[in-house]
Amino acid sequence: MAFVSFCLLAFASSFVGTWCATSPSVIANYSGQGLSTVPTNLSSLTTILDLSFNFIHALEDADFSYMSELRLLNLSHNALNELDCKVFEFNKNLEFVDLSNNSLKNISGLFPEALRHLDISFNDFKTMSVCKGLANLLQLEYLGIGAAEIERSDFEAITHLQLRYALIELQRLSGYEAGSISMLNTEHIHIILPGGTFDPYSVLIDAVRTTKSLELSNISGWQLKNESEKYMADIANNSIVTDLTLSHIKLDWFHLIKALQCIWHSSVEKLYIYDLNLFGFVTKMDFDYSNTSMKEFVVDKASTTVFLFNQEYLYRVFAEMNVENLTIISANIIFMVCPLKPSTIQNIHFEDNALPDKIFSSCNTLTQLRSLNLAQNKLEKVSKISEMTQNMPSLKHLDISTNPLHYTGEVCHWSQSIIWLNLASCDLTSLVFNCLPKSLKILILKNNDITHIPLEMTKLENLKLLNLAFNRMSDLPDCSFFTRLAVLNVQSNIISSPSRESIKSCQSVKELNVRHNPFQCDCDLKNFIDFEKMSPGKLIGWPDSYICEHPDDSRGINLKNIHIPIVYCNVYLLIAIIVLPIMFIVALLYCLCKYFDGPWYLKMLCQWTRTKHRIRRKKNGYEELQKETVFHAFVSYSEHDASWVKHTLLPNLEKNNASIRICQHERNFVAGKSIVENIINCIDKSYKSIFVLSPNFVQSEWCHYELYFAHHKLYTENTDNLILILLEPIPQYLIPSKYYKLKTLMSQRTYLEWPKETGKHGLFWANLRAAININLPDPESQSSSSVSHVSS
Ligand SMILES: *[C@@H]1O[C@H](CO)[C@@H](O)[C@H](O)[C@H]1NC(C)=O
Ligand SMILES: *[C@@H]1O[C@H](CO)[C@@H](O)[C@H](O)[C@H]1NC(C)=O
Ligand SMILES: *[C@@H]1O[C@H](CO)[C@@H](O)[C@H](O)[C@H]1NC(C)=O
Ligand SMILES: *[C@@H]1O[C@H](CO)[C@@H](O)[C@H](O)[C@H]1NC(C)=O
Ligand SMILES: *[C@@H]1O[C@H](CO)[C@@H](O)[C@H](O)[C@H]1NC(C)=O
Ligand SMILES: *[C@@H]1O[C@H](CO)[C@@H](O)[C@H](O)[C@H]1NC(C)=O
Ligand SMILES: *[C@@H]1O[C@H](CO)[C@@H](O)[C@H](O)[C@H]1NC(C)=O
Ligand SMILES: *[C@@H]1O[C@H](CO)[C@@H](O)[C@H](O)[C@H]1NC(C)=O
Ligand SMILES: *[C@@H]1O[C@H](CO)[C@@H](O)[C@H](O)[C@H]1NC(C)=O
Ligand SMILES: *[C@@H]1O[C@H](CO)[C@@H](O)[C@H](O)[C@H]1NC(C)=O
Repeated sequence: MAFVSFCLLAFASSFVGTWCATSPSVIANYSGQGLSTVPTNLSSLTTILDLSFNFIHALEDADFSYMSELRLLNLSHNALNELDCKVFEFNKNLEFVDLSNNSLKNISGLFPEALRHLDISFNDFKTMSVCKGLANLLQLEYLGIGAAEIERSDFEAITHLQLRYALIELQRLSGYEAGSISMLNTEHIHIILPGGTFDPYSVLIDAVRTTKSLELSNISGWQLKNESEKYMADIANNSIVTDLTLSHIKLDWFHLIKALQCIWHSSVEKLYIYDLNLFGFVTKMDFDYSNTSMKEFVVDKASTTVFLFNQEYLYRVFAEMNVENLTIISANIIFMVCPLKPSTIQNIHFEDNALPDKIFSSCNTLTQLRSLNLAQNKLEKVSKISEMTQNMPSLKHLDISTNPLHYTGEVCHWSQSIIWLNLASCDLTSLVFNCLPKSLKILILKNNDITHIPLEMTKLENLKLLNLAFNRMSDLPDCSFFTRLAVLNVQSNIISSPSRESIKSCQSVKELNVRHNPFQCDCDLKNFIDFEKMSPGKLIGWPDSYICEHPDDSRGINLKNIHIPIVYCNVYLLIAIIVLPIMFIVALLYCLCKYFDGPWYLKMLCQWTRTKHRIRRKKNGYEELQKETVFHAFVSYSEHDASWVKHTLLPNLEKNNASIRICQHERNFVAGKSIVENIINCIDKSYKSIFVLSPNFVQSEWCHYELYFAHHKLYTENTDNLILILLEPIPQYLIPSKYYKLKTLMSQRTYLEWPKETGKHGLFWANLRAAININLPDPESQSSSSVSHVSS
């Protein structure tokens, strides 16, 4: 049955394929809608109409007439009693009609000639006379028919049709004229055998003589037949069948083996047994394996109602089969014995059973075995399986996927002929890399628990393909372990950003699949994106399946569209960009200081603004002050600096502005008074005291006194009246320790430095003038009063 529907599907899809090429298909699917009539409001462009599983019992002329594009009509599983092909009169493109499983008794009229697929099986036809109306269907490839009585004459009308597939449903068969089926001209016959008591002998004889490819469904009750052995042998003796499929079989062990023995000695080369239900006791039975054409033996889906029996009897029959391909899948077998003699079996396929580790252990007769598939069984220890392969010198392909396999570090002994190994969907960890055949070319480790490639693994120099999809790898594997690797699949792991080293090691891989990993879209990923840019086309699924997962603001963005500025990522560049400007500025500042005395100007400017500020702040206080103040400043200096004071300081201060008056002891001291008296007098009458500092000054006792008085005044009246001019730099050691006041003054007060460069003198004078500049009473009267005062 499954085989039939597979064929139907394949057939249908091939049709759909060709239609798609010409015009797009418009599908109307009304399957299982409980309809009792064909809907009348369908699109006139409908190409595929599925009305299966409804209750439609009659078709009207107008039902399909407006759908000129209709190509496929499925009316199976309805309640049609009769059909007049006139309803298809306007459906010239109709190619596929399924009328199976209705209650049709007669069909009148002719189907459209384009018909390629017609199924009228599972109906109530009494005879196959309806075939007479099919003679015009020269395109017909698939024909499904069924009737209670079959006669040669019914098929005579269609012998000229070149069919590919004939389904002959004989469920209700009550009469069969020998030779009828042989009238058909078809590549493949599928006969659904009668279920009742009717003996299908002549049907079978005809079938095995007619075609090389035969399927027999619904085989049961043969054990009831008289002389069943001879019966079967006879059929087998007449056979030209090479591909035989027996599906939906219900047989006991004895008759199954007898039937197999007949088939074994017949023309059959490939035997497929699908859906076998075995009952009765399993006993030891001899089987003659000699003289057979059998090359492929397949059991797909088998069940048994007997459980307590010697397993050896059952398995021995299959183990000794001298075929090329032996397949037993979905049969729940729990063991398989080792062939007693060197076996011819090349391919063993035991998928989806319950086989344990012990299978074929110490079995050295499977010398020609090339491919062994033990997927979906109960294998547990990889090392045990490796030992099993040791005795299989021709083994190339080994599939042990989907088993509860694990590996914990035992020594492995693989057959060194294995080039293809499937270990997908097991419970394997990274350790498994220490237990692999060195000859491997293709290794599938999909869907395991692998996190990395262990460093101590031996290189797989021949490996071309490595599939590590659906594991827990956090980085690309180190490809230097696989020097010839061409295809690498690490899709759906937990690789957030492949490391630079791994990318480099995998440079020679031609196809790299890293899709569906949780990419961390930051600097480290740049290597990976650059890898794609440098060798485009290598990444499978790029760009659609490469999406950022982290950080949150990048989630969902395609790697292709992510922009990571180079600067962020290149440490050297970052250093260059940040550090270079800083170094430049420092250098600039250094140059400014060194060659243009920037700090000096800065200091001067600073002092200037401070002075201005102070003047503004204390404007009011000056009123009172001015009354006693006669001079703008008193100058104190060492005798050694007298020449600078007389020839530089005084002329410059008094030059442009005659209003500035300076009290200088040589000029303004009153003779007769003691020097100290003179000094005190002078300081008292001056708004500011200027001290010209130099090493000489510091050593002069006089000056110390002067400074003392000035200082005294500074503290008692708090008038900020000190101005220090540093004529020459004074090394700290030159200041005697007793002059601690001078020391503190020099460290507290900012002083004006006498610049050596003449270009800077202008600013110096301006600054100094600003510091002593104050509006004193009229210069004329003041000057005279001062003189008079001094002279008095
Ligand atoms: C119509 O729908 C059914 C399920 O409702 C589905 O099995 C069938 O394949 C569909 N037919 C077509 C032609 O798509
Ligand atoms: C046809 O009519 C039925 C109801 O009468 C409606 O459910 C259906 O969608 C219609 N189909 C089309 C293709 O218009
Ligand atoms: C028609 O319906 C039957 C039953 O559902 C199904 O087996 C068959 O594949 C259908 N044919 C097409 C062409 O959909
Ligand atoms: C035919 O259809 C009926 C119900 O529609 C179902 O009971 C029967 O099993 C079907 N026969 C086959 C062979 O599918
Ligand atoms: C079937 O229809 C054809 C043509 O309409 C007719 O000749 C034949 O007698 C009918 N058969 C039965 C059994 O009704
Ligand atoms: C197979 O035969 C039994 C009778 O033995 C019958 O009831 C059943 O419908 C048949 N099955 C099929 C799929 O034809
Ligand atoms: C089988 O049939 C033959 C006659 O054709 C008869 O003699 C014999 O007894 C039958 N055997 C059984 C087991 O029915
Ligand atoms: C098979 O047919 C050959 C002749 O065609 C005959 O000699 C032989 O006995 C037959 N074998 C059986 C088991 O019927
Ligand atoms: C082996 O098969 C050949 C034909 O294929 C036949 O002639 C011969 O008799 C068979 N031998 C045995 C022992 O069955
Ligand atoms: C045996 O199986 C292999 C692999 O599936 C296939 O290529 C080969 O054609 C099969 N041999 C026969 C005789 O069917």
